[in-house]
Amino acid sequence: MHTAEAQKRQAAEAALAHVEDGMVVGVGTGSTIRYFIDGLAGLRSKIEGAVSSSEQSTARLRAAGIPVLDLNAVGPIPLYVDGADECDPSRCLIKGGGGALTREKIIAETAQTFVCVIDDSKRVDILGRFPMPVEVIPMARSMVARQLVGLGGQPVWRDGFTTDNGNWILDLHGLRIREPKDLENRINQIPGVVSVGLFARRRADLIIVGGTAVTP
Ligand code: A5P
Repeated sequence: MHTAEAQKRQAAEAALAHVEDGMVVGVGTGSTIRYFIDGLAGLRSKIEGAVSSSEQSTARLRAAGIPVLDLNAVGPIPLYVDGADECDPSRCLIKGGGGALTREKIIAETAQTFVCVIDDSKRVDILGRFPMPVEVIPMARSMVARQLVGLGGQPVWRDGFTTDNGNWILDLHGLRIREPKDLENRINQIPGVVSVGLFARRRADLIIVGGTAVTP
């Protein structure tokens, strides 16, 4: 029961305790969040609905009978639950392994509480072992890649992958991210960057690792 998969399930189930009556729940993307959606199905009569971060999660939410709402129609939301690819001791994250980073970031920004659900393998002292995704406007791919090299990383185009927003992804290898907020700000300023999968400006509020809430 201590495998990564079991921990993902436990973390997702523990996050359900944060869902309250009448809530609009922000829902992330990925294999951990699939467990969360399955659990949320049992609470569907209790909540108003969900705001979804990807077409993949939207399809699963709808299949579970959970209304999917337009973020523009609901305003700020009380709770966002999502996974991560890496999490440091300050609750800063790398996300976007599934390519949904931009919509995830939008929902995280509008959420009062961001609960991040992970297995133990995602915890690191310094972010960067997992290649950090950057979503780019297609025509800017080469130019952005050159600028990312200038920041010390090795960008690799996720060839053949298009995001839900019609854009491309550069995965940035070889980083040791000691100042996540600073790096996030610098990458955000490159023209053609839609968003970067570094969640430091708006990091998680609570980390649940395999069913146990962690307060770093
Ligand atoms: C999706 O784009 C990502 O940000 C996911 O939240 C992240 O990759 C975690 O996914 P898993 O739960 O599948 O590990």
